[in-house]
Amino acid sequence: MALYKKALIVGATSGIGEALAIKLAETGSRVVAVGRRVERLQALLGKAPHGMISTMVLDITDLPSIASFVKALFSAHPDIDAVVLNSGVQRAFDFGKPDTVDLGTLELELKTNYTAYVYLVTALLPHLQELSKVQETQLVFISATLGLVPSLVRTPNYNASKAALHSFITTVRQQQIDAGFEKLRIIEVFPPAVQTELHDTVHQPDLIGGNSLGMPLAAFTNELFAKLGAGPKLFVGIGPAEILIAEGGLEYQRQEMFETQQVHVKAALGKFLNKTC
Ligand SMILES: NC(=O)c1ccc[n+]([C@@H]2O[C@H](COP(=O)([O-])OP(=O)(O)OC[C@H]3O[C@@H](n4cnc5c(N)ncnc54)[C@H](OP(=O)(O)O)[C@@H]3O)[C@@H](O)[C@H]2O)c1
Repeated sequence: MALYKKALIVGATSGIGEALAIKLAETGSRVVAVGRRVERLQALLGKAPHGMISTMVLDITDLPSIASFVKALFSAHPDIDAVVLNSGVQRAFDFGKPDTVDLGTLELELKTNYTAYVYLVTALLPHLQELSKVQETQLVFISATLGLVPSLVRTPNYNASKAALHSFITTVRQQQIDAGFEKLRIIEVFPPAVQTELHDTVHQPDLIGGNSLGMPLAAFTNELFAKLGAGPKLFVGIGPAEILIAEGGLEYQRQEMFETQQVHVKAALGKFLNKTC
């Protein structure tokens, strides 16, 4: 059975996003595939059943264009019922040798992995909230286990950008519940290392054969597809993240603590809030 009627996948020109786009299309979900590389989007059309994928070009770091992109998206595809935010980059920086740190590259990585997501979420939420009034709706983030435990020491800004994204998702999810949009499921996926272009020499010149690092892409995609189909409430963990999100695990406990404490903090803050604003 098709998982969605039509899914938007941002970052669908390679790796996880492309593989998920093909998997969804093969199983009956239509897909709107987004990325910067036009030739890759074109090639993707030939890799999926005819007519199941449409494409749109967007550079998510062009922040001022995001609102108009989303307007055009929903005007062309009002039937989108799921969104997968997947695009991302990973860069190495050595703060042991601070003179080698290129802050321009670092800023672009942060913008790609965090700030652009905030802009996308702001623009996408009104449609998803409206839809969630009548049906369960998924907003899926492809996050990173490195955002929970930053064990890849060579990528400090990548890890931090994903940690920021995780914190943002946690509170934005609660805000949807507080606003009455309980059927809007905000799901965070924590992949292991996966064999994609993320670690490719093109992006990380000091790695040789980095695209063969980690779990084979097809096995990862099959597991991701199955776990999204199982109707997760908060998280999908694959590989090392599974133990973190399992009952009693580090992230499970942190989420429990969040759910309890945010109630107390709201109550404590109540008398300080200006109700006329
Ligand atoms: N592979 C892993 O080991 C791993 C592990 C944990 C999490 N992840 C996460 O999984 C997600 C997908 O990565 P991947 O491993 O599949 O890497 P990938 O093969 O390099 O794919 C990255 C995707 O992001 C898109 N993208 C990057 N910058 C963009 C921009 N400015 N505007 C629009 N799209 C942009 C790329 O499209 P264009 O270049 O065509 O724009 C491409 O489709 C990322 O968020 C990554 O952090 C990956």
